[in-house]
Amino acid sequence: MENQGIKKDYSCEYFNPEVETLSIEAIRELQLKRLKETVAHCMNSPFYKKRFEEAGLSVDDIKTLDDIRKIPFTTKADLRDTYPFGIASVPLEKCTRLHSSSGTTGNPTVILHTDKDIDEWANQVARNLWMVGLRPTDIFQNSSGYGMFTGGLGFQFGAEKMGMLTVPAAAGNSLRQIKFIKDFGTTAIHAVPSYLTRLKEVMDQEGVDPRKDTKLKVFAIGAEPHSEEQRKRIENMFGVKAYNSFGMSEMCGPGVGFECKEQQGLHFWEDYYIVEIVDPETLEPVPDGEIGELVLTSIRREAMPLLRYRTRDLTRVLGHTCACGRNHVRIDRMKGRSDDMMVLKGVNIFPIQIEKILMQYPELASNYLITLTTDADNDNMTVEVELAEPLAEENHQKLLKAVTRALKDEILLTPIVKLVQKGTLPVSEGKAVRVVDKRTVYN
Ligand code: COA
Ligand code: AMP
Ligand code: ZN
Repeated sequence: MENQGIKKDYSCEYFNPEVETLSIEAIRELQLKRLKETVAHCMNSPFYKKRFEEAGLSVDDIKTLDDIRKIPFTTKADLRDTYPFGIASVPLEKCTRLHSSSGTTGNPTVILHTDKDIDEWANQVARNLWMVGLRPTDIFQNSSGYGMFTGGLGFQFGAEKMGMLTVPAAAGNSLRQIKFIKDFGTTAIHAVPSYLTRLKEVMDQEGVDPRKDTKLKVFAIGAEPHSEEQRKRIENMFGVKAYNSFGMSEMCGPGVGFECKEQQGLHFWEDYYIVEIVDPETLEPVPDGEIGELVLTSIRREAMPLLRYRTRDLTRVLGHTCACGRNHVRIDRMKGRSDDMMVLKGVNIFPIQIEKILMQYPELASNYLITLTTDADNDNMTVEVELAEPLAEENHQKLLKAVTRALKDEILLTPIVKLVQKGTLPVSEGKAVRVVDKRTVYN
């Protein structure tokens, strides 16, 4: 990946000055051009070809941006149903990377990338990091999980393209993270917000004062919902500016939306995406300022563009202009989900994944409860499940270990599992309440 930052004027606020400062009219013109190109390209995908035929729609029906509403939505279920490569718009030999969601009990979602997709993705991330004042003189540490989590390689390639010395520290091992921060003079970190609280706790234990003993000045925080209070708390704890970063694997990964220095919502890059906010029930557009479900169309991707993808994230449009000079739409921090997906420690989990694992054990009854908490050490998930019959202590411990391990393999983080006696958990009337989220992540 080429270090592009080195050729640039560091005093310029923009990484891609021309596109970042486009007028709203110019953005719309570019979007229409790219939407038409993308729709035509999607006809190489047997999935979209069939979708268009079923809807009685042809490429030529897309004449204006409003015509996007003629196109049927794409959902996570579509990705699962066509697992693993069914939505691709290029032959597999053109693809050079895939990322996949967690899970072994059902079909995960798989996202394919070509070289060009990876390069454009890195450009988006580089643009974001430059936007908040980082330059090739900065040192960037990434505490995301690498591998299948897009926050790892996504930020790595973006920070490298921007030209920073990039430290792929990856998730975990807070002592080592702190050593790197001090020894390498790390100035910027990407982390999920809940982890930064843990990192500060370890800094306190080690007698490290981030204001005096480190050069930290910027955090990119994202991959999980967090409130404005949580952001402010992180900024005050470290004396470091924290910018909200939104991404999702289906669109590429991190880089889809990012706050500028004004911190007045996330700029979603409209040269890469068409943003719609719809009522999750009627699927009709809602006016700017009203909360609805975010629907994204990727208009620059090659391997696997997605048309009108229902993200299930709830948010709203804050505005179309900004004091920073960018007219790419400003989107509010995420306000909730229109499905039951949970995001914990930057990991996406559906309750059904947990249920499917628990139900594999005949020793367990069917009543269970998932509780999410913010504890002193970290964010945690507790899974309480009733035993079918009381167990001898030795068998109890064996089962506990096996269930914990199986859950970790499925959801990629370690829950606190409690096997409780039958009749202990509340029995809900009507639809069972399976998840209690005690964190305050949305506001
Ligand atoms: N990011 C980085 N490190 C994290 C973390 C997170 N979200 N959550 C926990 N950790 C740290 C813990 O602090 C601990 O290290 P420490 O004891 O030295 O402080 C270590 O990881 C293990 O934590 P624990 O909570 O016991 O582990 P777990 O088995 O539940 O799994 C992770 C936790 C970190 C492996 C898993 O949650 C993960 O990989 N998260 C990162 C997800 C990510 O990168 N998302 C971005 C997607 S774009
Ligand atoms: P993934 O595909 O694993 O990158 O997860 C994408 C999902 O993580 C999104 O659909 C959101 O639900 C959540 N997410 C990512 N970034 C943020 C953010 N900044 N704020 C709130 N939720 C986020
Ligand atoms: Zn701005």
